Formats: sequence, C-alpha cells, structure tokens
Amino acid sequence: MRMNSAVIFMFGATGDLARRKLYPALYSMYQEGKLSERFAVIGLARRPRTNEQFRDDVRRSIDEFSRTKVSDEPGWARFVERFEYLSLDSTSLPGFQELRKMADRLDEKFDVGGNRLFYLALAPELFGTVAVNLRDGGLLETTGWHRLVIEKPFGYNLPSAQQLNKQITEVFDESEIFRIDHYLGKEMVQNIGVIRSANALFEPLWNNRHIANIQITLSETVGVEERGGYYDHSGALRDMGQNHMLQVLAMLTMEPPSRMHPEDIRDEKVKVLRSLRPYANAEEVDKYVVRGQYGPGELKGAALPGYRQEEKVDPESKTETYFAAKVLVDNFRWAGVPFYIRTGKRLPVKTTEVVVEFKNVPDNVYLAGKYRLEPNLLVFRIQPQEGVYLKINGREPGSESSIVPLSLDLHPSGGHSTPEAYERLLYDAVRGDSTYFTRWDEVASAWQFIDRIAEGWSGSAASLQSYPAGSWGPKAAEELLAEDGFKWWPVNGQNAGEPKW
Ligand code: BG6
Repeated sequence: MRMNSAVIFMFGATGDLARRKLYPALYSMYQEGKLSERFAVIGLARRPRTNEQFRDDVRRSIDEFSRTKVSDEPGWARFVERFEYLSLDSTSLPGFQELRKMADRLDEKFDVGGNRLFYLALAPELFGTVAVNLRDGGLLETTGWHRLVIEKPFGYNLPSAQQLNKQITEVFDESEIFRIDHYLGKEMVQNIGVIRSANALFEPLWNNRHIANIQITLSETVGVEERGGYYDHSGALRDMGQNHMLQVLAMLTMEPPSRMHPEDIRDEKVKVLRSLRPYANAEEVDKYVVRGQYGPGELKGAALPGYRQEEKVDPESKTETYFAAKVLVDNFRWAGVPFYIRTGKRLPVKTTEVVVEFKNVPDNVYLAGKYRLEPNLLVFRIQPQEGVYLKINGREPGSESSIVPLSLDLHPSGGHSTPEAYERLLYDAVRGDSTYFTRWDEVASAWQFIDRIAEGWSGSAASLQSYPAGSWGPKAAEELLAEDGFKWWPVNGQNAGEPKW
C-alpha cells in the first residue's frame, strides 16, 4: 500500500466549502510535500463543467483563499493536471458506474495503488445514498484503503443521527469513517492537551481543587448570511453546541490517554462526554441555559437587520442564534467546577477563547485583607490570534505593596501562518489518523446531552430572549455566572491591544 497516495473524490465540488477550504488545503499540502505525486482529484457535482473550467475554478479558489500562493507555473501545471470533473447525480447509480471507470483510469495514470478518499461536502440527506451507490457502483473494489470523510451536521438529534449512522455503516466500517469537526483541526484546540498536560505549572492544578471555573466563548460577528434555510432549522445549539463547543470542552476535561493512539484518545473524550450532567427537566434547562435571537442592531456604525428579517428565515422564527449554558462534568476531577459556554451570531467580535480561572490564594494572610486579589487566568486563544495568555499577580514596581496583574502573552506559532484546520484534517484523513475526527460514540453522547436542552425548549418559546445585533447577547447570560459569584472575563477582541481585565 502506498503512503499518502489517493484518488480523492470531491462530492460538492462546486460548493462553498470546496472552494474556500478544500482546494486551498490540497494545494498547501502539495506544496509542503504532504501529498505524494501519486494522487488525483475528481470533482463531482450536478452542474456541467469541463475539466478546463473545473481547473480554472480551482485556480481561482487558490488565488483567493489559499495561504500558499501559486508562485511557479510548472509546479501548478503538475498539480492541476490531476484534477478532473464529472457531472454526477448522486442519487443515480449509472453515474457511479461511469465514475468508476474514470477513477480506475486516474488510479492507473498516477500510480495510486487503489486508495480512495470520498469527501462528502454534501447535504447529509445524501450521505446514505452516496455510500450505497459507491458500493453498488463498484468503487470500493480496489485493493487499497477506502475512507469516507463527512461534514456536519451529523443528524438533527440522537434518533436521526442513529439512522444516518446505520446507513453509512452498512457500507463503511467505523474505522473508515472520518467525521469532520473542523474545530478539532484548529492549531490551538490541538494544543490544549499539550499545554495542560506537558507543563508542571498546570498539570497538577488541572482539577476541581484548583480551578474555579472554565469559560468557553465562540463568538461570531456574522449573521446567518445566505444560510437561513439551513440555520433556521438548526439554530446555535445544534450548529455550534453539539459539535464544536462540546469537543473543545472534551479537550479541556478528558483524562490523559494511556497511549497516544487515536482510539485511546477518543475513548477518553467519550468518557467525559458521558459524564456531562444532563438537565433533569425543562425547569433546569430554563435555569441553566440561556437562549437568544438577534434583533435589529448595529455593529461598527452599520445598521444590521434582525434575524427574522434575514433571507430564508421564517419571519416568526423561534430559532436561537445564541445560547449560553452552565455545564457540569460529574467525575472525580471536575465535580463542582462550572463550565460556562456561550456562542452566538452577530456578537461584537469574532473570537474563540477559553478562560481557565484558578481559585484564589487566601488573601487575608499575606495581604491582611488589604487587597482583593484577582484570580490567575490561563487563556487559550484559539482564533483569530493563536496564543496562550497567562495572568498572574505581582508587586507594582516602585510601590510598597500594591498588587497588580502581570501578563504573559505567548504565541506558539511565532507569527508564522499555521496550517488551516481543513489542511490538517485532510492530511490526517489521507494518512489515516483519526485522532481529530469524531467517533460515533462521541457524536451519540453529545446528542444525548444536547437533546435534553432542545426538549426543554420545545414546550414553550417563552425563554427566547431578543438581543440587539452587535451586542453580547441576553443579560441573562451574565446572571448565569453572577449567581455563582463569577463573571465573564472579557475576551481579547473586546479590548483591542493589551487586554484589560
Ligand atoms: C460552522 C457553523 O460549523 O462553524 C457556522 O456551521 C459557523 O455557522 C462556523 O459560522 C464557524 O467556524 P469558524 O472556524 O469560522 O469559527
């Protein structure tokens, strides 16, 4: 079997994801030698396109979105000659038989050795049908490996996810299924495990004896854009909560794995997802989960429409564009530590940050109660800047005993552009490393937790609160922490430049 060689089948080849992320990722991988010369890409979508047109589309997408620009034309020609296009109706078997011939030809031409990666950047309703057609069309009959890469959403709730899983596992083995959660491809999300475990400064403190609370913020400035049709059915809870937020939470809370093996790592993640305390009933959901929807507002002086005025959104929609929750992890390490998570569209800044707030030292001893000490904070800055920020206390220079916060701002990438999430994940899929893909039991446990919230909300829309576009969401999200004696720490983007805490 050849390493890193593959025919890559891009279903949804003319879509936004392929254009913005997947072609640029392939190009960067190729430029960095992460893809052998033995590969080919088949673009698949309904729309008719010639190979030339398809290659032009790929070039445009790279010129516009890639972090590695095309600098040598012969190199480009070698890369793009591997791209061919086939207009395909994913629901019709005869098209797959034609696809098989094309794939066999490219496999031979580029000496691929039978490895096949099927990337489904498609509506999830089609996943099952495509899987069956791949099998019945004879595309899985080569001697190399076969892998199915699928995008979210993986179901709408646990029962629909189970059904979807049943369909695809009739054709592919779990070990061949690579479920994408692109947050797991982000540099600093992958770095969480290293920073917390490889440092004597943090590892011994990573538990309920020393951590007061953890705050996870995934805020976006965009509204629903042209995705109203999808989003109005999904909402923030399913769009961001079930996947990205719970995955970040799992990276923060999982036990260190016994071996650095993908299955051992995923075993630990699933254990922690199973330890999330389910909300007992609708009252608890109401108490611990805040849901909001943006109304008209403004950002940086520009007037913005409310969610209900957006295209393809029901003018009476009850869909949440924001949620915040207090989450508890019932295991020995985390019992009693609240995790506050929040995400929303049309918030003031685009940022993903995790703030770990440590318990304070007793300030009455050394300071005789003279100063109120601020807690130590460790902040994972996931995006847009990548870094780690640490806030500690020190003496104010020149003063007798005034205490001031000192900060350490670290940028592990040293300002270099790090691979995009999709680049890392595609590379992992090609070499068969499933560590940063979600396994079925993780997905199922996450749905179990999320479904409780959705059920709690389904009875009434009374708790849906409106917030002005461009604001930090409903006030109730602040009360969620205030009741426990905490507050949301400002995220970096809110205080441009040096953060003020
Ligand atoms: C996607 C959601 O999974 O993640 C989008 O469907 C959201 O609604 C996006 O905008 C955010 O991703 P990122 O990488 O820009 O934070």
